Amino acid sequence: MWPQQGPQCFISPRIVVFLGLLTVCISPHLSEGASEPFRSFTPPDWGLTHLAIHNKTGDVYVGAVNWIYKLSSNLTKLRSHMTGPVVDNEKCYPPPSVQSCPHDLAPNSNVNKLLLIDYPQNRLIACGSTSQGICQFLRLDDLFKLGEPHHRKEHYLSSVIESGTMSGVIISEGLISKLFIGTPIDGKSEYFPTLSSRKLMANEEDADMFSFVHQDEFVSSQLKIPSDTLSKFPTFDIYYIYSFSSEQFVYYLTLQLDTQLTSPDASGEQFFTSKIVRLCIDDPRFYSYVEFPIGCTKDGVEYRLIQDAYLAKPGKHLANSLGVSEHEDILFTVFSQGQKNRVKPPKESALCLFTLTRIKEKIKERIQSCYRGEGKLSLPWLLNKELPCINSPLQIDDNFCGQDFNQPLGGTSTIEGIPLFVDKDDGMTSVAAYDYRGNTVVFAGTRNGRMKKILINSVSPSRPALLYESVPVSEGSPVLRDMLFSPDLQFIYALTDKQVTRVPVERCSQYSSCSECLSSRDPHCGWCVLHNICSRRDRCERADEPQRFASRVDQCVELTVQPNNISVTMAEVQVCVCLCVCELEQI
Ligand SMILES: *[C@@H]1O[C@H](CO)[C@@H](O)[C@H](O)[C@H]1NC(C)=O
Ligand SMILES: *[C@@H]1O[C@H](CO)[C@@H](O)[C@H](O)[C@H]1NC(C)=O
Ligand SMILES: *[C@@H]1O[C@H](CO)[C@@H](O)[C@H](O)[C@H]1NC(C)=O
Repeated sequence: MWPQQGPQCFISPRIVVFLGLLTVCISPHLSEGASEPFRSFTPPDWGLTHLAIHNKTGDVYVGAVNWIYKLSSNLTKLRSHMTGPVVDNEKCYPPPSVQSCPHDLAPNSNVNKLLLIDYPQNRLIACGSTSQGICQFLRLDDLFKLGEPHHRKEHYLSSVIESGTMSGVIISEGLISKLFIGTPIDGKSEYFPTLSSRKLMANEEDADMFSFVHQDEFVSSQLKIPSDTLSKFPTFDIYYIYSFSSEQFVYYLTLQLDTQLTSPDASGEQFFTSKIVRLCIDDPRFYSYVEFPIGCTKDGVEYRLIQDAYLAKPGKHLANSLGVSEHEDILFTVFSQGQKNRVKPPKESALCLFTLTRIKEKIKERIQSCYRGEGKLSLPWLLNKELPCINSPLQIDDNFCGQDFNQPLGGTSTIEGIPLFVDKDDGMTSVAAYDYRGNTVVFAGTRNGRMKKILINSVSPSRPALLYESVPVSEGSPVLRDMLFSPDLQFIYALTDKQVTRVPVERCSQYSSCSECLSSRDPHCGWCVLHNICSRRDRCERADEPQRFASRVDQCVELTVQPNNISVTMAEVQVCVCLCVCELEQI
C-alpha cells in the first residue's frame, strides 16, 4: 500500500480523498500518562510476601507478615485480616492448643508462606509460619475466617519461616479438589513431607482436610527427605520456587543442596542445584516422581540457581522461531549465575526458555532408558544406596505414570534452557510473560526494584531479545516472585516487601511523536494518526482502517494542520488536514 521508492515526499491522492470527506477533531493532547505515578498499596508495617489475583473479578489478595489484605484492582484496600502474632514456640509440636508445650511461649510473627485462590469453593488458602505452619481458609468476599484446621498431624505443613520457599497447585476435577504442596522442612523430616498431595475438602472443618490423597500401610501421597540424607547433610532442604500443572502433570522448580558437589564436612563450601520435578496428577502413590537438574548456559557461563519461572504461551513469532504451535506451554525462567549462594545469589542472571515438549521428551527418554535396565535410579539425595534400573519390557509413552519399581527416578544430565537475555547489573528476581498480538513480552523484576520489559520474538541469536523499557516499580526493594497480570491484561502487579504496584503493561502515551513512538520498539505502541498520539491499537479509534494506525516507523506520516495553532480553550476545532506522506529511507 505504501510506495517503496526512496525518500520522497508526495501527497497520496487516496488519503486526500478519504480525509477530505472527514471532519477531523483534534483535541489538545497532553501526555499526562507519562508522568502519572503507578498506583500502589503500602501497608504500615510492610512485610509483604505473596500476591494472588482473582481471574474474574481482578481483586488483589496480598499475604504479609501477620496480615492478609484484599484490595480492589486499583489497589484500594477493601479488607484486612490479622493472622498474628501467635503465641507459640517453634520447638513445640503439635502447637499448644493441642498439647501442652514445655518450652517458653512467646508471640511470634506469622509470615504468610502460601496464598492460593480455591475457585470452586470461593475461598482463599493462606498458610503461615507459626504453629508449625497451619493454614487459614478465608472467604474471598470479605476475608471472613471459615476455618483453621489444626487438630491433626496433617494440618501442619512446615514451620520454616522464609517465605517464597513453599509452593502449591490446586487441581480440581469435578467436586474433588487436591492440593499439591512442596515445602522445605528445616530438618524435621519426621513431621513434614517435602512434597505431598492433600485432599482439599469443601467443609473447612472436615476431618479429612489436608489428609494425604492416598495412604495405606506401605505407600502414601508424599515424599520425605530421608533421615540418612539429613544426618549426612544436616542443612539439606528443598526450596520450592515455582509450580504449575500442564496436561496430566504437576511440575515443581526447586533449589536444593547439591549433595554431589558439597562435601558432608559442614565447614566446606556449599553448592546448590536447581531441579524440575514432575508427578502425574493421577498418581496417588507418587510412583511417577521424576526429577532432572535444570539450568542454562550462555557464553560458557553456567546459570544454575533458579530465581523464578512463569508458564506462558508463545506469541506467533516466537512459536514460529521455536517450530512449535502457539498452544505449546513455554516455561520462562530466571537463573542466577553459578551454584553457590542460594540466599544471596550473584546479580549476574539469565532469562531462559524451555518448551514443555522438550522437557517431556527428556523425561520420557530417561524413563525408557531406565526400563531398558540402563544405569541407576540416580537420585543420590533420596536413595541411600543407588538402586540399578530394572529391565522391563513395558511400553513407555507420554502418559506413563510409573510402577512400584524404577522409581523415584533422577535425570543424569542437566536439561538446558535456551538463553534469551543476560542481566549482569541489576539481578533479575522474577519473571512473567504474555502474548500481545503475536509478540511475546517478558516482564522481569529486578533486585533494585525495577521492571524490565523485553521483547522475545525469536530464539535465533541473529534476532536477540530486545530490552525496550525499564521502569522503576519500588526503588531499592527487590521485586518478589509473585508478578501477576490483571485479568484484562492491561496491568501487571509487582510485589516488593514494602508495596504492591500496579504497572500498566505499556506507557505508549509517554512518546509524543510518531518516530519516538515507533522507535521505542514497544510492541504495544503505534501512532494513532487521527489523534496524533502514541497508543495501543485498541485505544485508537478505527485503527483497523487503512492508514489510521502506524506500527512501523516507516509508516510515520507528517501532518500539516491548518490553522497550525489551536487555542487550548477551544474544546473542538474543525480543521483541514493536509497529509504529506514521507517514505523515510531505511538505514
Ligand atoms: C479461573 O481459574 C479457575 C481455576 O483455574 C478456572 O476453573 C476458571 O475457569 C478461571 N476463570 C476464568 C474467568 O478464567
Ligand atoms: C478503585 O476501585 C474501587 C472499587 O472498585 C472504586 O470504588 C474506586 O472508585 C476506585 N478508585 C479510583 C481512584 O479509581
Ligand atoms: C497562530 O497562527 C496565526 C496565523 O497562522 C498567527 O497569526 C499567530 O501569531 C499564531 N499564534 C501563536 C501563538 O503562535
